[in-house]
Amino acid sequence: MTLLLSRSDLESVLDPGTCVEALRHGFTAAPGRSTARRVAVPLPGGSATALLPGLVAGIPAYTVKVNAKFPHSRPALRGVVCLHSLDSGELLALLDSATVTAWRTGLAAALGTHVLARPDARSVAVIGAGAQAELVLRGLPELREVTGLTVHDTAQDRAADFAHRHGDRLGVPAGVAPSAADAAAGADVVVTATWARQPVLYAADVRPGAHVTSLGADEPGKAELGADLLRRARVVVDDVALAAETGALAGAEPRLREAASTLGEVLRGDAPGRTGDAETTVYAPVGLPWQDLAVGWAAYRAALAAGRGREADLLA
Ligand SMILES: NC(=O)c1ccc[n+]([C@@H]2O[C@H](COP(=O)([O-])OP(=O)(O)OC[C@H]3O[C@@H](n4cnc5c(N)ncnc54)[C@H](O)[C@@H]3O)[C@@H](O)[C@H]2O)c1
Repeated sequence: MTLLLSRSDLESVLDPGTCVEALRHGFTAAPGRSTARRVAVPLPGGSATALLPGLVAGIPAYTVKVNAKFPHSRPALRGVVCLHSLDSGELLALLDSATVTAWRTGLAAALGTHVLARPDARSVAVIGAGAQAELVLRGLPELREVTGLTVHDTAQDRAADFAHRHGDRLGVPAGVAPSAADAAAGADVVVTATWARQPVLYAADVRPGAHVTSLGADEPGKAELGADLLRRARVVVDDVALAAETGALAGAEPRLREAASTLGEVLRGDAPGRTGDAETTVYAPVGLPWQDLAVGWAAYRAALAAGRGREADLLA
């Protein structure tokens, strides 16, 4: 039997703290280059993507994720995460990928942000108020205090709704900014999660000592951070080769690629994180298949325990 887990099933069993710990374990348990594949095939209105296999040492399952990525659709990312037994290949569960993707991206980003930002960083700017940023804002306050929020989005109504909801939930002042630079100007932590193909932030837009987490540059042709900002910053990614191939470091000088390290290395103590309060730090992941497994497995176990989901016999 296969367990079908919808968005509401997943939202009812997932909690940010458990997912952050599952992701932290994955970052530290998966050293070195994996054999996993990320495939993105452009289509007229978006792209068809597949990430496989998601593997984490100690989890007796693997994932295959198939996503449609259509920026003008709501949600923009949707599809399915197949959770298979590692021993037999049995299809244990089919999970809504819009939810799994946002949780694993947003909470891994919250972890990277917390690890790299100054200990006293409290004010947050969000540029691109969509599904991925939503989960960063749910995860980060579990790790550190957030005292203020500024939001910019090309869709002003989305920026206003995001600022209103999260400001109320956290009990902090929250407002909307007319540009990415205005949003970043007063922030200790800046999160970008847009569909931009030209940088939305340059070095002069970001305060010295600030931290920037950039999620949008995860496929060829996309870019959120100017070369001058990357040059000034300590850059941490989730996979250096993939970041150079399809992420924030695509087209960057060889020197920058050589200087970049991974969040796994930082968490294991094999590479330095932030080295001083005046340093600018950047976390720019492309998103890796094992992250879908880390969150998907936690959700599957919790759903079994809570009796959530619907069983289906796809071989009937
Ligand atoms: N790095 C990763 O691990 C990872 C994982 C999943 C998604 N992503 C990427 O993150 C990005 C956001 O995904 P999402 O699911 O949140 O999409 P979404 O459509 O839900 O949200 C994106 C928001 O950004 C706004 N926006 C688009 N371009 C902008 C610009 N130039 N300036 C300001 N605002 C802009 C849109 O109006 C929208 O509200 C996409 O590029 C997606 O491919 C990255």
